[in-house]
Amino acid sequence: MKIVVTGGAGFIGGNFIYYLLEHRPEDEIVCYDALSYAGNLETLAAAMKNPKFKFVKGDITNRTAVNTLFAVEKPDVIVNFAAESHVDRSIEQPDLFLRTNIMGTGVLLDACRQYGIGRYHQVSTDEVYGDLPLDRPDLFFTETTNLHTSSPYSASKASADLLVQAYHRTYDLPVTISRCSNNYGPYHFPEKLIPLMIVNALEDKKLPVYGAGANVRDWLYVEDHCAAILQILEKGRVGEVYNVGGHNERTNISVVRTILQELGKPESLIEYVADRKGHDRRYAIDPTKMQEELGWAPATSFADGIRRTVEWYRTHEAWWRHIINGEYQNYYERMYGHRAKLEYARI
Ligand code: NAD
Ligand code: TYD
Repeated sequence: MKIVVTGGAGFIGGNFIYYLLEHRPEDEIVCYDALSYAGNLETLAAAMKNPKFKFVKGDITNRTAVNTLFAVEKPDVIVNFAAESHVDRSIEQPDLFLRTNIMGTGVLLDACRQYGIGRYHQVSTDEVYGDLPLDRPDLFFTETTNLHTSSPYSASKASADLLVQAYHRTYDLPVTISRCSNNYGPYHFPEKLIPLMIVNALEDKKLPVYGAGANVRDWLYVEDHCAAILQILEKGRVGEVYNVGGHNERTNISVVRTILQELGKPESLIEYVADRKGHDRRYAIDPTKMQEELGWAPATSFADGIRRTVEWYRTHEAWWRHIINGEYQNYYERMYGHRAKLEYARI
């Protein structure tokens, strides 16, 4: 079987490629990635040595390039990770998110129709459900929760999901969708909360916590997400949505404190800064369908996962240093340079 992984030079796609090479050694894997700021060939360096793996540089919004990919590779399965993925960047520049996340998905779906496909899998997010109140711990996102987005990022991901479902209903395209909670682990670009805090702490720089740090995210170790996607490909029902998460909710400030403890760094590094616009309060996945229908459950506890992640960043300094020494410096200055600092009581 030949599996094309779009966006495989990014965080989750890269981890998924390693997961496939290990768990599906007979399959041929093609990574198709435009190498945006978030795509990194260093992430795929070890995969490049595997004869079952091939990298093709290309943009999912480029119809000609995507059609050529399908004509040449004749994939059996497409797993689409390619996206603009950072909420803060979507607040700065929404149009890029509409182009890649919506139009790009449309181009891939058209190619699937034209050339035929065994399965198109869309890697989506729990953010399409909007947020939950902080004072209702009894509420969770299920697959039937209404789409109710907050950011240009989540709106673009929800739009893509609707398009995927429309192509299933209208053209009978064999699709599946997974909506996962926040991931963490190796190869995570250091603009997102966990890797940013680890890298800053390693450098004894301030850790910018938005608002009071009371927002809640539901964290899943990236390998567990990869396992879930493979199970959906192997056993999932066509046309279905699957929520992926492991009931691991934490406030941002508690995550930051855990990272500081792991690294033996002082809490004085924490700096409360102006909140994100439209900041979603709480995400929380109900993974019952994944568990009952596919027998999936996360294998990694947060305590183990965060320890492994911190250790990975400690031992892969060259990987993140190449990122933070490049164009990323301009982003960091834009995002944090002039951000107001806040005084907060500890929560
Ligand atoms: P990422 O930003 O680390 O990687 C995105 C990858 O897509 C990069 O390699 C980039 O070069 C590539 N890409 C961007 N635009 C492209 C284009 N036009 N054509 C081809 N490739 C392009 O993102 P990630 O965190 O690995 O997320 C991957 C997917 O998983 C996204 O669709 C995201 O919405 C979804 N997701 C992420 C999380 C999370 O916690 N990170 C959680 C749930 C779902
Ligand atoms: P992020 O990793 O951007 O993921 P998402 O917003 O898609 O869930 O952010 C996770 C949480 O951490 C979110 O509530 C915003 C917060 N955050 C900070 O407090 N400081 C930061 O510098 C960043 C990047 C995020």
